[in-house]
Amino acid sequence: MITIKSASDIEKMDVAGRIVEETLNLMGEMVRIGISTSELDREAEAFIRSKGAIPSFLHYSGYPKSICTSVNEQVVHGIPGSYRLKDGDIVSVDIGAVINGFHGDAARTFLIGNVPDEVAELVEVTRECFFEGMKYAKVGYRLGDIGHAIQEHAESHGYGVVREMIGHGIGREMHEEPDVPNYGKAGHGIRLEAGMTIAVEPMITLGSHRILQLSDGWTIVTVDGKPAAHYENSLAITDGEPRLLTLHEEVTRA
Ligand code: MF3
Ligand code: CO
Repeated sequence: MITIKSASDIEKMDVAGRIVEETLNLMGEMVRIGISTSELDREAEAFIRSKGAIPSFLHYSGYPKSICTSVNEQVVHGIPGSYRLKDGDIVSVDIGAVINGFHGDAARTFLIGNVPDEVAELVEVTRECFFEGMKYAKVGYRLGDIGHAIQEHAESHGYGVVREMIGHGIGREMHEEPDVPNYGKAGHGIRLEAGMTIAVEPMITLGSHRILQLSDGWTIVTVDGKPAAHYENSLAITDGEPRLLTLHEEVTRA
């Protein structure tokens, strides 16, 4: 069942979303050569709790940490640990928080030191894919229009679109209906309605879109070992433009 959120529900989701956004911004300030992914996790958890929220990934289906940190060929669900970021890495940081009964969920991919141009381009185009999808996150379009726009943009650059991992409805639960794939047919799927809240999260690969899960039971990697990028925001469908719940200000960084 797809739940339609009231105006007051969406305000609560905006509160959760802002906390996720601020935590991601903090991660953006912290990432550097030599920092371990578990240090990022520790700071993110402390920040989320300092805001009165709870990190929603912690213990979700047994997930052991508060955030996901997916480095290079890791697509999503990388588990923070002793790995220290090194020059030329990319790291996708995915964060969820719940407060007052509502969830926020978002992800960014950060560049560490000198990243090869073709990998930096993958990261930028993955972000663009989200905004291509957003153009169709409006009443009058269907879910397939969002996925189609994301897929078109990614594939026009020769990139792969991960199939098995997808976006989702979000609200009182982190994962609600509907599924929000990053591929699809224009004009297909459910009709978007005001009050629907979804997380749109392109996962884009430099090479083949094929993935596999590591034996830790979580980490998703590309089969060919080539890098992947992830970019996600939670948003509300409105009578006009979509309302971003996890992106209120663009941080400018030197
Ligand atoms: N943002 C991820 C998602 O949309 C969060 C899941 S990670 C988990 O599925 F650890 F919580 F499972
Ligand atoms: Co998500």
